Amino acid sequence: MTVKNFKERFGGAALVTGASGGLGEEFARQLAFRGMDIVLVARTGAKLESLAKELKGKYGVNATVIVQDLTAADCAKKIKTQLSSKKISVGLLVNNAGYGSHGFLHTLDGENEIRMLELNCRTPLALTIAFAPEMVKRRKGGIIFLASIGAYQPNPAFANYGATKAYNLMLGESLWSELRPFGIDVIALSPGFTKTNFQEAGDVHIKATGGWAEPADVVRRCLNKIGKKPSTIYGFRNWLLAFSLRFTPRRLVIMISALVSKPAK
Ligand SMILES: NC(=O)c1ccc[n+]([C@@H]2O[C@H](COP(=O)([O-])OP(=O)(O)OC[C@H]3O[C@@H](n4cnc5c(N)ncnc54)[C@H](OP(=O)(O)O)[C@@H]3O)[C@@H](O)[C@H]2O)c1
Repeated sequence: MTVKNFKERFGGAALVTGASGGLGEEFARQLAFRGMDIVLVARTGAKLESLAKELKGKYGVNATVIVQDLTAADCAKKIKTQLSSKKISVGLLVNNAGYGSHGFLHTLDGENEIRMLELNCRTPLALTIAFAPEMVKRRKGGIIFLASIGAYQPNPAFANYGATKAYNLMLGESLWSELRPFGIDVIALSPGFTKTNFQEAGDVHIKATGGWAEPADVVRRCLNKIGKKPSTIYGFRNWLLAFSLRFTPRRLVIMISALVSKPAK
């Protein structure tokens, strides 16, 4: 895949959720560099506006800003309506926005956990339902789901977050198979610890196993692998960890995971 034919390959703009920072911002930059028009979605309008300005100036692409809380039940419909009125079609959907939390479920803010499920799972599903049929009609398109290395194992102290990421991994891999015959490339990306605002946003305090990755490297890997694999794990150590779990008794995996992720109190 050369840089030049990305736009032609997906046949529409790249819609990036959670584009105001971290991996989403990096997806927006690298896709604009590859010549794609960009739709930036998140809650922080000022950050999105300044990124849109930068992408237009640097790469000469169109960049559209949609300020939207993606935990809202009707967010996918609202985004689709806004884009239809501007005659923007989505060629690549990057289901990136998400957050985590750290602690035993019974001690955490229950409402926050339910919002997490909505943002991390319901919204990627709703956006896929909204935009995949147009891709099928065009016989081209792409969808990226943000999983995690946590998606490969049970995660005591990240129970809900880990389960939301497992959902993205399974949904992405299944849709890879369903949509392939229609010329649509789906991939689930599993980063390990990556230098973004994620740890702070979710009040996550544990030692990074596998070291810290740069968002630019994680995103580059995903864009290089889309169309070639149903899913990709960033980093050899992360891959090895996920792979070794296949041969480890389940109960042992849970016990080790519980030790590594144990909250401070
Ligand atoms: N960083 C890691 O170590 C890591 C590892 C594995 C997987 N991931 C996954 O990578 C994805 C991106 O995370 P990140 O690391 O880039 O974290 P981040 O730096 O905290 O960025 C999260 C993005 O999601 C947006 N967002 C959060 N709540 C939202 C809401 N209610 N509505 C709309 N947008 C919302 C934020 O924008 P606003 O606040 O402006 O809305 C921000 O743009 C997540 O799905 C995460 O699970 C991250």
